[in-house]
Amino acid sequence: MSFQPHHYPGMFISFEGIDGAGKSTHIPYFSQLIQERFPLHKVLLTREPGGTVLGEKLRQLLLNDAMDAKTEALLMFASRQEHIAQIIEPALKRGDIVISDRFTDSSFAYQCGGRGLKIDELNALEQWVQSRPELGHAYLIQPQLTLLFDLSAKVAEERRSSTRNPDKFEELDLDFFNHVRNEYLRRASQDPQRFVTIDSSQPISSIQSILKDCVNQL
Ligand code: TMP
Repeated sequence: MSFQPHHYPGMFISFEGIDGAGKSTHIPYFSQLIQERFPLHKVLLTREPGGTVLGEKLRQLLLNDAMDAKTEALLMFASRQEHIAQIIEPALKRGDIVISDRFTDSSFAYQCGGRGLKIDELNALEQWVQSRPELGHAYLIQPQLTLLFDLSAKVAEERRSSTRNPDKFEELDLDFFNHVRNEYLRRASQDPQRFVTIDSSQPISSIQSILKDCVNQL
């Protein structure tokens, strides 16, 4: 496993997966491992949509209000722009380790895979918000490491229904989540240096040992 290099002194890691795949369960454990491995760095836990005051207001709209798919994509990227400008980029410049519960892979998975927007449309938004031409022709602010929690849409739905009240996305059907999952897997196969795909149907202890291996290789 070799992780993508980064221009900034900090490190950027994201957690991804369909709703119910279990990523949120593992973030606290993972961040503790990271803090132990890098005791001199500040570890910052954040999330999308959200992560800033404005981003959290946008999150409320995004998770509760019906809207056109393009509006949804634009608001996800509006939240991301604030997040990068206020939180992520300054933290990476300081040398902090940023762990985000979701980032742009969620937009490709949900808004393209799930809602059916075109990849090129999202590529344009990604370029607009995340490219830094002064740091290199193809440079994008993006995670060096993305942990993708992969689970069948059916099992994820069963897990969700036993643990929480559904938000707007979580009410969507198996077909939607199958498409979201497939888009995640497609992206992971296209960028094997950045993604670690974890079979989320395993016991928690097995997932924790995969996370330990990952952290030890950073
Ligand atoms: P969360 O509770 O895991 O943070 O989920 C937020 C929801 O927002 C989740 O259903 C996925 C969705 N989402 C998108 O559709 N596009 C995005 O770009 C992001 C960041 C989240």
